[in-house]
Amino acid sequence: MEFECILVETKEKVGLITLHRPKALNALNDQLMNELGQALKSFDQNEAVQCIVITGSEKAFAAGADIAAMANYSFMDTYKEDYITRNWETIRQIRKPVIAAVAGYALGGGCELAMMCDFIIAADNAKFGQPEIKLGTLPGAGGTQRLPRAISKSKAMDMCLTARMMDAEEAERAGLVSRIVPVDQLLEEALTAANTIAAMSLPVIMMIKESVNRAYETTLSEGVHFERRLFQASFGTEDQKEGMKAFMEKRPAAFKNK
Ligand code: HXC
Repeated sequence: MEFECILVETKEKVGLITLHRPKALNALNDQLMNELGQALKSFDQNEAVQCIVITGSEKAFAAGADIAAMANYSFMDTYKEDYITRNWETIRQIRKPVIAAVAGYALGGGCELAMMCDFIIAADNAKFGQPEIKLGTLPGAGGTQRLPRAISKSKAMDMCLTARMMDAEEAERAGLVSRIVPVDQLLEEALTAANTIAAMSLPVIMMIKESVNRAYETTLSEGVHFERRLFQASFGTEDQKEGMKAFMEKRPAAFKNK
């Protein structure tokens, strides 16, 4: 596949997608989001890939949706034609884990894209924010919904209403990111995490992703019920037999994704 706004490569069992519109700090236009969706779907279907990493540059993961591209849209353009958000939901269909490796700015849609990933590893120079209010609009890809779930209502209100940025330290304290690393080690750390995941059983990886995501969609008892069914289902896999046998034989497990 030929892409202009992203770079796509495979590192061992990890699909790596680098957002690449350096002159616009990786502003997320329609073409970029379209390409990102295609690359994600293709990695999801690729048997050689078990985990996906999305990253940007040292200066910006993404500085938001492309303001120049959307500045003159009418309500009909955004609502009837769905020009801005039409490509933004593809990532939710991806069943393999997607890690966001964030350095620099993750603002507006950039912060929302990072939050749509399964977890965020931040460089020490990362800055998160939802500054849409300064543009006379509001987050449009889940910012007002995922931020309160990730970091509390109070901090989400603060960020969305004042447009202030949150640095990596604050983001980790608040629970938005899972770990912080020096910026020059970001990609290595993300790829190591992704390859650690990729060494596990793919059906179990997918069950865990599905089950953790369920926590956001349902009640505790329904969620625990859902988890219990998947836990039981894992005993129908060859990989569970191999994993437990390998433990007892004091050797690493060799999973076959069956
Ligand atoms: C289009 C953008 C952009 C954006 C930066 N650029 N952000 N272009 N859309 N979101 C462009 C600038 O116009 C400039 O182009 C170049 O990138 C470098 O940016 P500078 O501003 O010169 O860099 P700097 O001074 O370092 O400031 C960095 C910054 C600032 C703080 C990140 O660029 C900024 O505030 N950007 C906008 C952030 C924002 O408001 N994001 C939310 C967008 S709305 P030129 O050609 O002048 O060199 C949104 C809604 C989501 O995301 C809805 C989802 C569906």
